[in-house]
Amino acid sequence: MLFFHPPFTIHHYQSIGSTNNQLKAMPGAPEFTCVMADEQTAGRGRRERSWHSAPGEGLYLSILLRPEIEASKIPLLSLLAAVAVAETIRGLQISSLQLDIKWPNDVLANDRKISGILIESTSIPNEAPRFIVGIGVNLNHQSFPPELSEIATSLQLECGNHFNVASFRNALLDRLAFWYEELRQNRARKILQRWQELSSYARGKQVVVIFDHEEIRGETIGLHESGALQLQLPSGEIRTILAGEIKHLRQS
Ligand code: BTN
Repeated sequence: MLFFHPPFTIHHYQSIGSTNNQLKAMPGAPEFTCVMADEQTAGRGRRERSWHSAPGEGLYLSILLRPEIEASKIPLLSLLAAVAVAETIRGLQISSLQLDIKWPNDVLANDRKISGILIESTSIPNEAPRFIVGIGVNLNHQSFPPELSEIATSLQLECGNHFNVASFRNALLDRLAFWYEELRQNRARKILQRWQELSSYARGKQVVVIFDHEEIRGETIGLHESGALQLQLPSGEIRTILAGEIKHLRQS
């Protein structure tokens, strides 16, 4: 089924492997084409993980973007998508919800993950690179598999209400269109500023960054203009983190 929420065109499926894969398999699709599904049977997360995609319980959405911007600004797509999700959830005005963004783009509610974002690129020679922004938001899940139950949550688990997936999607697309326009109009600073306002990970957080073969510990000291996370190590050295998994080190 097709829906329109300008500038977006939404291809809606009941059940599909992965909305990111489906969008990748639509090579001539114009910018702002979206694929959403009620259920994903092979939803994918970052680092080869799977994304729990129970039928009707979450938003599973992929959006095609073709930003004609400098390559150095591309990582900001990831930050702006997280800002859009966090602002959409804030807009629901659920007072019991403490929202946060863990760098770069995990949205947390009461310290558990409520949304994840997987951005993949596919290019066609002589064309602006295509980015598929895949967003999963846990809306109406009443439980999670045991391996996720301590680290994931949903809006329903946090406040007991049921949320309409299509309304949430439309509100999210509005926030995404707003922040994407800021990026295209060269207002990257506003994205960095908003991300830092919404994230307790921006400054003063003791974290460990996990790479494939190394871990480093330090305190976050803000974002670099590229969107990278700046970390001050106990030695005083400042490291700019471009990729890696962040964990909050809780004081014992
Ligand atoms: C993560 O945090 O690991 C990223 C999760 C991304 C999940 C979304 S759901 C819609 C889109 N389709 C997928 O297969 N994955 C993304």
